[in-house]
Amino acid sequence: MLITIPDVLSSDQVAHARKLLDAAEWIDGKVTAGTQSARVKDNMQIPEGSPAAREIGEMILAALSKNPVFLAAALPSRIFPPLFNRYSGGQSFGTHVDNAIRQFPNAPVRIRTDLSATLFFAGQDEYDGGELCIEDTYGVKMVKLPPGHLVLYPSTSLHHVTPVTRGARICSFFWLQSMIRDDGHRSLLFDLDLAIQRLGHELAGNPVAEKTAVQITGVYHNLLRQWAEI
Ligand code: NI
Repeated sequence: MLITIPDVLSSDQVAHARKLLDAAEWIDGKVTAGTQSARVKDNMQIPEGSPAAREIGEMILAALSKNPVFLAAALPSRIFPPLFNRYSGGQSFGTHVDNAIRQFPNAPVRIRTDLSATLFFAGQDEYDGGELCIEDTYGVKMVKLPPGHLVLYPSTSLHHVTPVTRGARICSFFWLQSMIRDDGHRSLLFDLDLAIQRLGHELAGNPVAEKTAVQITGVYHNLLRQWAEI
């Protein structure tokens, strides 16, 4: 399942982050690439754990912890500290798959990457190219979102970033381990959750319908209980 989530960060938060990002030290992005992806990766990154990365990363994680669509879609267990990249002057990232396991920087914690996320910081009119292209069984989806918006997609998918031919594309990217390992199971739970929320708005004053909604909510939680790894 691929989902875009608007306005994860406010315009004030994006503006503050942009100031920090524009003043930050940028290094070759190959530092976090595996052997295969290092061959096709051509971008810049902020060093892991640098003050700017930590401050903006914490802002992103705080926003996500209060975002109901993100929580329902991802059912996150552990989220990797957000990283930051910049593409300009024709830079791109060729087709690759993200590493399955990620070691946290400076902590004895590893995650299985179930979902990959990209949060956009540059305006769509600030640069040409830089589309994130994600291959799934339905074909290729091209994603380029306004500042503060986020795309979440299965880490199992092949993906690439097209060359940035004007301006600079600035994004945060990170991975997460979900309580629900299987993408199909996670999609079913998200659909069920959305349906329950929609029903909840319509049922007031109808006792039979309200009881049915409680029963369906029970099914959601019991499926979660069956499938979740905590
Ligand atoms: Ni990737």
